[in-house]
Amino acid sequence: MQNIEIRKLKEDEDIPYELLLLADPSIEIVDEYIHRGECFAAHYANEIVGAYVLIKTRPLTFELVNIAVDEKYQGKGIGKKLILDAVKRAREGKAEVLEVGTGNSSLGQLALYQKCGFRISGIDKDFFTKHYSEKIIENGIECVDMIRLSKEL
Ligand code: COA
Repeated sequence: MQNIEIRKLKEDEDIPYELLLLADPSIEIVDEYIHRGECFAAHYANEIVGAYVLIKTRPLTFELVNIAVDEKYQGKGIGKKLILDAVKRAREGKAEVLEVGTGNSSLGQLALYQKCGFRISGIDKDFFTKHYSEKIIENGIECVDMIRLSKEL
């Protein structure tokens, strides 16, 4: 899809919660990290169709803590564009590593991150059972562990 513009959300703009909650079902957790990081939005024809949140977690390390594309626009390459934009901005911020975490049951997301050059770096065991009160099931698999991935920049 052409004509997608990705830009940083301004301080006085509404946070696109509806989108961010597609990637993370906990509003408390979204609220916690949205104020620690920067939110970027993808625009298409005056509409916000995707978003991501980037945080500096440690020296030389950034983390992509949320990425989401409006359901109507999924599967058209916007997710990949958002990830490549996050890679570019992390490099501009002088990071050497970009990290991301996803559920053990998020098979499409695991494919997408690896197609964008991320490699599995670890497992945060029981992350989802510890931090989320609702059970999450995707692809018929219970989401219990967080798969950590990273990309050298
Ligand atoms: N198996 C193999 N590849 C898959 C796949 C699967 N199950 N699901 C997606 N992909 C691949 C696509 O084939 C495509 O690869 P290609 O360019 O080689 O064809 C690639 O992933 C990118 O797809 P794209 O169209 O850019 O993704 P998208 O715009 O649909 O965005 C998400 C991806 C995950 C952001 C989007 O689906 C979304 O918002 N999901 C809900 C929120 C979410 O889960 N966020 C991530 C939390 S970790």
